[in-house]
Amino acid sequence: MSKFTVINHPLIQHKLRILRDKNTSTKDFRDLVNEIAMLMAYEVSRDMQLEDVEIDTPVAHATVKQLTGKKVAVVPILRAGLGMVDGVVKLIPAARIGHIGMYRDEKTLEPHEYFIKLPEDIEKREVIVVDPMLATGGSAKDAIAALKKRGAKYIKLMVLVAAPEGVKAVQAADPDVDIYAAAALDDHLNQNGYIVPGLGDAGDRLFGTK
Ligand code: PRP
Ligand code: URA
Repeated sequence: MSKFTVINHPLIQHKLRILRDKNTSTKDFRDLVNEIAMLMAYEVSRDMQLEDVEIDTPVAHATVKQLTGKKVAVVPILRAGLGMVDGVVKLIPAARIGHIGMYRDEKTLEPHEYFIKLPEDIEKREVIVVDPMLATGGSAKDAIAALKKRGAKYIKLMVLVAAPEGVKAVQAADPDVDIYAAAALDDHLNQNGYIVPGLGDAGDRLFGTK
């Protein structure tokens, strides 16, 4: 079974508190999603490999560390995942960016894929799938399946808010994909498939479409 990790740094918890508040403006919501994504990326990238290199500092010769190993692709699930990309790329500037367009049917809650474009060498990259919300898990599962179909092998899922149902569904379908969240599991999904207490519709709050 994959790991479910809550990155419960006080700064993340505080920013998430503001994000959940229904009175938070679109601008603040957008800024906070990016800030939290950046802070999370620090922890999600903790297992990146390092190698020794020799350099000359202004004072002496030294053996120091630099990143080696797999290159990274950040893959947002559209639309709401887009809000997390800049934050992650601030910390991992060499990352390539793929896109997977997915919308949930409001009645059936079934996800529908409408767009996919990935870096050509996706099979060699460590892929960080980003989406603020993990509700039923349908969108994340389908996005991961689409990535695996195109050869991706090293996949992590990074979300802000997760329902128990979604974590269970992704762990059952993809035991190789570790999940990172900004908060401990929320309580449940309501009859409309919204996470309770959650933060509402992440896409609409990010882009001001409602
Ligand atoms: C939201 C969210 C996830 C999905 C989560 O997207 O950003 O992608 O729902 O729900 P699930 O776990 O039950 O699949 P939505 O379909 O509302 O599209 P949007 O980002 O374009 O608003
Ligand atoms: N998608 C959202 O944007 N919010 C939820 O609570 C569930 C799915």
